[in-house]
Parts: sequence; C-alpha cells; structure tokens
Amino acid sequence: MDRFRISGGTALHGEVTVSGAKNAALPILCASLLSSEPLELLDVPRLRDVGTMRKLLIQMGTRIETLEHQADGQERLRLTSDAMTHLQAPYEMVKTMRASVLVLGPMLARFGEALVSLPGGCAIGQRPVDQHIKGLAAMGAEMRIEHGYIKAQAKRLRGARIVTDMVTVTGTENLMMAAVLAEGTTVIDNAAREPEVVDLANCLIRMGARIEGAGTDRIVIHGVDRLGGAQHTIMADRIEAGTFLCAVAAAGGEVLVRRARSDMMGATLEKLREAGVQLLESEEGIRVTASRRPESVNFRTAPFPGLATDMQAQLMAVSAIAQGTSIITETIFENRFMHVQELRRLGAQIEVDGHTAIVKGVAELSGARVMATDLRASAGLVIAGLVAQGETEIDRIYHLDRGYDRMEQKLSAIGARVTRVTEKTPA
Ligand code: UD1
Repeated sequence: MDRFRISGGTALHGEVTVSGAKNAALPILCASLLSSEPLELLDVPRLRDVGTMRKLLIQMGTRIETLEHQADGQERLRLTSDAMTHLQAPYEMVKTMRASVLVLGPMLARFGEALVSLPGGCAIGQRPVDQHIKGLAAMGAEMRIEHGYIKAQAKRLRGARIVTDMVTVTGTENLMMAAVLAEGTTVIDNAAREPEVVDLANCLIRMGARIEGAGTDRIVIHGVDRLGGAQHTIMADRIEAGTFLCAVAAAGGEVLVRRARSDMMGATLEKLREAGVQLLESEEGIRVTASRRPESVNFRTAPFPGLATDMQAQLMAVSAIAQGTSIITETIFENRFMHVQELRRLGAQIEVDGHTAIVKGVAELSGARVMATDLRASAGLVIAGLVAQGETEIDRIYHLDRGYDRMEQKLSAIGARVTRVTEKTPA
C-alpha cells in the first residue's frame, strides 16, 4: 500500500496544470451507453475511479480505445457501445465506486432493462439512491429491489415531471441521461446546478439530445429517438484546482493554477479571499499568492454555487493554521469529519459538535504519521502535511489516487517535498 512522505515547511512556487474533472468524466463515460456510435473524449484524467468505470463499461460490452496519450497524463479515448453483452453493474464494481450507479439511467433508456447493484453505505455517509429510483419510476419504469440489486425495466421511458427531494448530483445526471431517449418531455425540478451536470448536458447535446436549463434548478429534456456519436472535451477539475489553491493558501508562495476558472469554483474563491489570499484570474487560469498566515473563515457546505462539500477538508486544513477561530458546518454528508482526528494528530485544535467543527487556528502544526480515510480527507491531510514542521507520513494514499492524478509529482514541481513510498508486499 502506498503512502506519502512529506517534509513540510516550504512555500510553493511555479505552475501546475489541473486535469480533466473526475466528476464530469464518470457520467460522460456512461453517456457512451446511450448510442451505438462512437463517443470520442479528450482530457480524460488518469484516475483510479476512471479506471474502475472503464472496467465496468468494458465488462458490459463497450469497446474503449486509447487514441492518444495527451500532455499532462490525460487521454483521448474512443468508446463504442454497439454490441453490449451484459446489461449489469455487479456488486464488486459498485461497492468500490458508488458512481457506477450512473450506468442505470442510460442502460434503461436505450435497452429497456438494467440490473445495478445497490451501492450500500460508504465512509462519509449512507448515500442512498432513492431519488434515482423514484425518478425513473416516475418515467414509467418498473423498479424492483431484489437480492441487493436494482432491477429496472421499461419498454420505453416516458417524459415526466420530477421534483427531487434534495439536490443530488449523480441523481440529476442519471435522470437526465434516461430522459434524453424517453418519449416526450421531462422536467427535473430542484436539479443540481454543478458545472459537471452542465458538462454532461453539453456532451449529450453534441450527441443529439435536446436539453434546456442545465446549470439551473430546472432542466427540461425533450426526448429524441436516438443519439449519435460526438467528440467532447472533459472540463477541468474544479476540486483539484481548489485543492492547489488551498495548498498555496496554507503553505504560502505564488502559483499559477492552469485551467482553473472562477465561474466553476462556487464559493471557494470567496472564502480564500476572506482568508487573505490574493487570486488573479486570466485566460490561463488563476494565480494565487499567499504572503502571510491565513485568516480564519466560517462556512457551511451547500450544493453549487455554495461551498462544495468536496472542498471542506482542504479548507479545514487551511483553517487549522489560520489566525483566529473558524466555524465549519457540513450539511451534505453526515460523516464527513473523519479527517479531524488525523488533523489533531498534527497538532490542530478542532472540536466537533454534531455537523459543526470549531477550528482554533494554531501557529504551527507538527509532522506525524496519519491515515487517509476518504478521497477529499486525504487532500486535507496533504495540505496540512505541507505546512507541518518536520515529516508527515500519510497512509492509505489509494484514497487520494481515486481522484487526483499524480498529486505528488504536481506538488513536487511547485517546490513541495513529497514522495510516494511504495511498500512491496512480501512474496
Ligand atoms: C456527487 C459527487 C461527490 C460530491 C457530491 C456532493 C460525483 C461522482 N460525486 O456525489 O464528489 O461530494 O456529489 O456534491 O459526482 N441523497 C439521497 N438520495 C439520493 C441521492 C442523494 O438521500 O437518491 C443524499 C446523499 O446521501 C447526500 C446528498 O443527497 O446526503 C447529496 O448527494 P449527491 O449529490 O447525490 O452526491 P453524489 O451524486 O453521490
């Protein structure tokens, strides 16, 4: 199992380029199931979750060719779903990556049936998929849960008006992908407004779908009989961008984060400015300059354009060394403070009261051995390690590899002292 070894205390300088977005790539890979013609994708990031989704699609019968290894480790892929063999997402796949449930909507819409394992709980919370199921049922599908699997059937889905009980990102994406091939018009109210939903909609529109309102809380989809092939470039990863901005906010220095765009970043930039960080946007990206210890900031996570729950751990790491006390409330997931006890091992002063963390900034953290518990928690620990005095070792870095491409190399290129330690398991 790999781990990171970080020698903290150096400021960051130079340039770093953000990869294609994990949370856009995953649904867009599934969109290939909606057509028998090839879908060509550029800027597909090389991540463990993308690898899992590729495996799932291949075992369903999709052919995936790598057309080009692009700069910065990204790939140009061609996916062809013209001869599907297994209309199923098995438990073994869904349990390692909940986003596997994104095959449900497209499979049902194009083939009239789908068998997808229920995801079950995960470390950060229960994360049910009831809204996906309810929405598809409203479109006329027969939805049953049998032996831990969602069994869905429909001759042809019908357009419907769906109001989701809460804002759900993959729920909105699944229903949007189902609706593009349904008969008639579907309206999704209380839709997620995340930029990744917009990127998926843009790809579907290129394939011939008729979608209005993506990026607002009402998406209207006029069903069409078939979709064709298309070419699409995956948007840049706003969470990876935000993570680098936080790294500089905490460690100090000046870095150009290439491909970062303020319109995708929601409230993250506002909070960093409040913390005293300078941000300058240009065509190339966002230049971040941090010349002094950050100020404390209070925030609550919320659906886009509110503060992303996927940025909470990284901003908490910044707050841990800020001047003053920060109050952080997590509203999206019930168990997303697992990084707190690890940050405490580095000397952070954090109290948790239900969904709220009270972070008393300290002048200095001190390196220690800590354990990554989930993807974004790991990113928070890396940021804390960059500022901590001495050496920090982060175990279970495979969590980080799910969503960050070669983070240690990207950080090393801007002056951080981070190495990946690979322990060979004895034969
Ligand atoms: C997506 C992102 C994830 C991010 C999250 C919130 C992907 C692949 N993952 O996850 O990185 O942290 O959005 O921005 O895009 N819920 C239900 N029933 C449902 C669906 C959701 O109760 O049917 C609840 C969840 O438990 C959670 C909240 O709604 O409390 C939001 O979850 P959701 O937006 O669906 O998260 P994901 O789409 O799984």
